Amino acid sequence: MSVTHGREIHLVRYPQGEVRRDDFAVVERPVPSPEAGQVLVRNTWTSVDPGLRVRLREKGPEGYFVAFPLDTPMDGIMTIGDVVESRADGFDPGDTVWHAYGWRDYAVVTAGEEALRGLGTLRRLAVDGFPPQAYLGVLGGNGLTAYSGLLRVSGLREGDEVWVSAAAGAVGSIVAQLAKLRGHRVVGSAGSPAKVAYMLDELHLDAAFDYHDGPVGEQLQEAAPDGIDVYFDNVGGDHLEAAIGALRRGGRIAVCGSISEYDLAEPPPGPSNLFLLVAKDLEIRGFRGSSHLDLLDEMQREVGALLRDRKLIWRETVVEGLDEAPEALARMMRGETTGKTLVRIA
Ligand SMILES: NC(=O)c1ccc[n+]([C@@H]2O[C@H](COP(=O)([O-])OP(=O)(O)OC[C@H]3O[C@@H](n4cnc5c(N)ncnc54)[C@H](OP(=O)(O)O)[C@@H]3O)[C@@H](O)[C@H]2O)c1
Repeated sequence: MSVTHGREIHLVRYPQGEVRRDDFAVVERPVPSPEAGQVLVRNTWTSVDPGLRVRLREKGPEGYFVAFPLDTPMDGIMTIGDVVESRADGFDPGDTVWHAYGWRDYAVVTAGEEALRGLGTLRRLAVDGFPPQAYLGVLGGNGLTAYSGLLRVSGLREGDEVWVSAAAGAVGSIVAQLAKLRGHRVVGSAGSPAKVAYMLDELHLDAAFDYHDGPVGEQLQEAAPDGIDVYFDNVGGDHLEAAIGALRRGGRIAVCGSISEYDLAEPPPGPSNLFLLVAKDLEIRGFRGSSHLDLLDEMQREVGALLRDRKLIWRETVVEGLDEAPEALARMMRGETTGKTLVRIA
């Protein structure tokens, strides 16, 4: 198959506040032929993640993935595709792979070259009974983040009561279900009545609330009158402060993300109740899913089995067409998507 040109999304301006479609451009460019050790991949699905918003800045947070430069392809976005031409050992045309050269319809990828701290390095997927895009969500980075954050970072113990914020989203919905399946009482929060219904009726959480319905601390108190032991933080801000207030002695916070800050030029002041960390012997620990790559195979085995047995469900919001990727990100940031947000490229 001879591919001469492909389309890529380029960032042309750093968004101020909410992401806008015209912060990006669709650019047609020649696709190089793969050299020795490389494969040419036709991308089929690409991921939309809150972490991308953090990189749409001139200077990203220290220690995080690098910020996206203007007017170049956006490297470092998880993507699924089919190999169309291979000059790399271990990869054949027709193989389904994941790699980190997303938001474009074709990519030339070097086998073995580390991407996204190893998570995005070119990898052939088994796709054993699951649709390939599951490897961008529940069986990929989101699954790993949920699994490692809950089971390793939060120090989950028998009988713990757990609160998960953004619990109708890609990571949160997996965390909440894994905790439920281990017998914990789980409270979820999210941003709409439909998401509250989803958390209660489909994820079978014990309590759920819409954070727009009143002060988060008060709603949490109602949902967990005796307090919580673990808070899985996807949101930061007022949610984090509420958790510190509600945690019982020896409670733990696994900080996965702070999405309430990502669109803001100046982050708001931190929680005003930090002394409670001292008073109640609380632990707070940030983490990256990609720091726990050693758990990837274990997670895929366990979560894969739960999916096959229909004990764990996952939902996708699919946006059609590469050109719509920026809009998909904006919609996700606004809370208009449920479960994993994906772009179907082809
Ligand atoms: N540490 C890691 O390695 C790692 C890896 C992946 C993701 N993450 C983090 O995990 C979190 C969830 O990521 P995800 O991929 O699963 O995304 P997601 O939950 O599927 O989508 C993000 C959701 O956040 C909610 N949100 C947006 N603004 C909010 C605000 N101001 N307050 C409260 N909720 C808000 C929206 O839903 P609502 O309708 O509920 O508002 C939105 O749908 C993010 O913070 C992300 O950065 C961390």
